[in-house]
Amino acid sequence: MAQDEQKRAVAQAALKYAQEGVIGVGSGSTVNLFIDALATVKGRIEGAVAASEASAVRLKQHGIRVFDLNTVNELRVYVDGADEVTEHLHMIKGGGGALTREKIIAAVAKQFVCICDASKLVGVLGRFPLPVEVIPMARSYVGREMLRRGAHPVLRENYKTDNGNLILDCHGLTLLDPPAMEVELNNVAGVVTNGIFARRPADVLLVAEPGGVRTITAKRP
Ligand code: 5RP
Repeated sequence: MAQDEQKRAVAQAALKYAQEGVIGVGSGSTVNLFIDALATVKGRIEGAVAASEASAVRLKQHGIRVFDLNTVNELRVYVDGADEVTEHLHMIKGGGGALTREKIIAAVAKQFVCICDASKLVGVLGRFPLPVEVIPMARSYVGREMLRRGAHPVLRENYKTDNGNLILDCHGLTLLDPPAMEVELNNVAGVVTNGIFARRPADVLLVAEPGGVRTITAKRP
């Protein structure tokens, strides 16, 4: 299966988790295919909460109702992609810049289903530059803090997040303890969110491989 076919297959497989109620929907090219698949079963769900303006537009184009997260009491499932993911279901996310809203929806959802193609599965996180969303006035300070931690931060050019902030893409990190680094970076003044999703990892990973879609479920006590 080519990469595009893998994305389509995994998007289709995720429909099994979207049975009823309001569905949390992330962002990115794999999620776009999930939104297209969701449109085929839209009669059985109430609607969706979207992690980005782009996803909200696509959902509405398909006639799927988009809810404000504040008006939703319960979110049973959140479906989103990843830039990197390990077999522990820790992820780097934020390649599309929507990391803060994605992390909020992931926190609310009872079940996080990560969908990706085989190229995203890694042994250790960090080859993909870690996105860090920063308040604009803190850009230089946070950049220096990242340098101190061995990263090479690069400002994402001509880019503002949906929240009006900047992204530093931090190259050269090897994340041996993702939950600890996630907390540490979130404690740097001026950081809104970093793209490590480890304290609230995915519950289920659907990974499309040349032979089909594999399901990996979190092993937690
Ligand atoms: C956006 C994300 C996406 O989930 C991530 O970038 C994966 O995108 P794609 O499916 O296009 O590879 O975290 O902020």
